[in-house]
Amino acid sequence: MKGIVLAGGMGTRLAPLTHVTNKHLLPVYDRPMVDYPLETLITAGIEEIMVVTGGEHAGDFLKLMGNGERLGLRHLNYTYQKGHGGIAEALGLCAHWADGEPICVILGDNLFEYQLSPGLMAFADDPKGAMVFLKQVHDPERFGVATLEGDRVVDITEKPSQPNSDWAVTGAYCYDAEVFEIIKTLKPSARGELEITDVNNAYLQRGMLQAHKLDGWWTDAGTFESLLRAGNLVAKSGANKSHES
Ligand code: G1P
Repeated sequence: MKGIVLAGGMGTRLAPLTHVTNKHLLPVYDRPMVDYPLETLITAGIEEIMVVTGGEHAGDFLKLMGNGERLGLRHLNYTYQKGHGGIAEALGLCAHWADGEPICVILGDNLFEYQLSPGLMAFADDPKGAMVFLKQVHDPERFGVATLEGDRVVDITEKPSQPNSDWAVTGAYCYDAEVFEIIKTLKPSARGELEITDVNNAYLQRGMLQAHKLDGWWTDAGTFESLLRAGNLVAKSGANKSHES
């Protein structure tokens, strides 16, 4: 299984900080934001990783991350998203690199307390269709929200004003190679982007979407409030790896 971290976008919700850097390079406690999703992939045993970035500050990723040595990698791949066509468009840029292999995708502003296993391991064993990872939140209207019948997801709605549940679809996804065909069929949403929720609903309609409920905390870090929360959660949980070793 290959791993992809999506770290493009304009980061407008974090302006003016994002006028001078990419959102995913901002600090979360004592490390750059992008370290955390990368580490989530690495601790799942995924070593072949692509970072998709964009915007004016993409070069700073090379300066900061290089070949990923600081995180124990020997190599890190990069690709560049022109403009801001959305998460699914960014993922579509990885089709050639993925080369038919199943992928685990994590949004660059998503932090998970624990590994994505055992859901991820189950998908890796039988990588067909897609898997999403759910977490109960107090502000579901900020996220993709799952409508559940029992444990089964029957619909996902992107940022609904009146959510059907408090189960957010977090920014971690597993896909088989079909994902790239699905992305080609998408139409831009009202905000002019190709939405990852539309990808997940396409799998749902085919009866090929699994959902896994996560243990431990999860947060995004794309707003000032969530960025502060992310830093506090990392500091409290000791998830920050010491620089001293
Ligand atoms: C994106 C996705 C949304 C998901 C969220 C997780 O939203 O579109 O479905 O729940 O990430 O962080 P964004 O906040 O990037 O608009």
